[in-house]
Amino acid sequence: MRIFHLSMECYPIAKVGGLADVVGALPKYQNKMRLEASVIMPWYNNAFVYNHDFEIVFEGFIHQAEQMYDVIVYKEKSQDLGFDLYLVKIPGLLDREKVYGYWDESEQFIAFQHAVLHWLSAMEIRPDILHCHDYHTGLVPFMIENCPEFQFLKGVKTVGTVHNGEYQGSMDWLMSKYLPFFDASHYGLLDWDSRINPMAAMIKSCHVFNTVSKGYLEELFTSFQGLEALIFQERQKAFGIINGIDTEVWNPETDPMIKQHYSLKNAEIGKSKNKSEICKEYGLDVDLPLVGFIGRFAVEKGADLLPGIISKSITETNGQFNIIVLGSGDSHVEHLLKDLQKIYHFNFALDLGYKEYLSHQIYAAADFLLMPSRVEPCGLNQMYAMRYGTIPIVRYTGELKDTVEDISSGGSGFNFTEANEESAIHAIKRALSVYQDKKRIKMLIENNMNFNFSWEKSAENYLHLYKYRAENQ
Ligand code: ADP
Ligand code: GLC
Repeated sequence: MRIFHLSMECYPIAKVGGLADVVGALPKYQNKMRLEASVIMPWYNNAFVYNHDFEIVFEGFIHQAEQMYDVIVYKEKSQDLGFDLYLVKIPGLLDREKVYGYWDESEQFIAFQHAVLHWLSAMEIRPDILHCHDYHTGLVPFMIENCPEFQFLKGVKTVGTVHNGEYQGSMDWLMSKYLPFFDASHYGLLDWDSRINPMAAMIKSCHVFNTVSKGYLEELFTSFQGLEALIFQERQKAFGIINGIDTEVWNPETDPMIKQHYSLKNAEIGKSKNKSEICKEYGLDVDLPLVGFIGRFAVEKGADLLPGIISKSITETNGQFNIIVLGSGDSHVEHLLKDLQKIYHFNFALDLGYKEYLSHQIYAAADFLLMPSRVEPCGLNQMYAMRYGTIPIVRYTGELKDTVEDISSGGSGFNFTEANEESAIHAIKRALSVYQDKKRIKMLIENNMNFNFSWEKSAENYLHLYKYRAENQ
């Protein structure tokens, strides 16, 4: 079975968040199952492309509004990734440094989808499955069926994965001039609330779609940024498949990004050495418990709660613990945290930015990982934390509910129910009191490290989705 994953992100090529981790891992595991999975994504002018060799496999051009753009498709040569990688370059549009945040983002995403389908049609490459990740590639199922230019691909099975329903790419109908020519009588498939909505279009036109956990699918029926009625209408083709983690990349025994390797057997010593290193670097007292936060400073992640949580919990505990925060995003949150860091520098370390190696070091060094998320479709941080023997303190939402059970009900983490400072601080204090009980902490670390979040089972579920569900639609 030949599968093409279409995505804006893929680890290690370009990563902003968990989408990259999923697209960098799932195809690897699918290929281990003897499927033929590849990744197609935009070309970014970043370190990965400078350090790898490519061959050109296609050259052509597309028209978008009044513009004509060249399209060049590169295939990565090394075969080291565990899947074939194709990068689509469109000089002037898709040859920039960053993944998101450009003024003409919608044009970029449309051009990427157009270019991919143009290339596959021109070369008569007909995969069994086109797997579209998030709204950025959500117009593909519509384009295949409704654009005469892609007649060759008509009928190819399309699968859509909703990683994050908060972002839907909604745009004014004036933007339709950027789309490849389509059968206008089917415009309703693109429309939601009198706008073009790529997330809605994906759900309407794909053969099947899934969310990245079962719990999140349930949540979308009542909270999907306006698409609740649509998901209800299309519920017969909706499934929930939880993400796995790449246990080759995320392995404390071999992880090249951490200072001290360790396994279940010597986790206590290994983790404490990693903790010493990080505490030394950031001027924190190594004898105090260390809480970590890693993530985008976004409302979904509860990042706006961090300043209050940090200042109040340090004050209320008389500075009896340390916290290290790695992340970036909302500038107001960044400013507040910078100011707080000056006041609480004995207990609070802040690293603003995106640093892959540091995230690994924090998972390895911290005693606890805090996730005050408001919305968490799956969440990978808690899984990485557990794999590295770090005890998660999470808000009871989305998939966090299912992956992290509270110690009061026999689990190995801490839950809190409300997305507010008090609730989070209460959970932190519970964690700190358990920290004194070394035997119990050892047991929690072991339980967490023993958890199996590997991709094997989820990759099987995707295969089932492709084979039986998509086929029947
Ligand atoms: P989301 O995709 O919503 O951001 P996930 O929990 O699925 O959340 O995945 C986040 C991924 O991004 C994890 O691999 C996490 O370690 C990583 N990450 C988030 N912020 C940073 C950062 N500032 N530096 C390094 N890695 C980060
Ligand atoms: C999204 C979600 C996150 C999920 C990730 C990978 O970014 O916010 O919860 O883990 O996608 O599916």
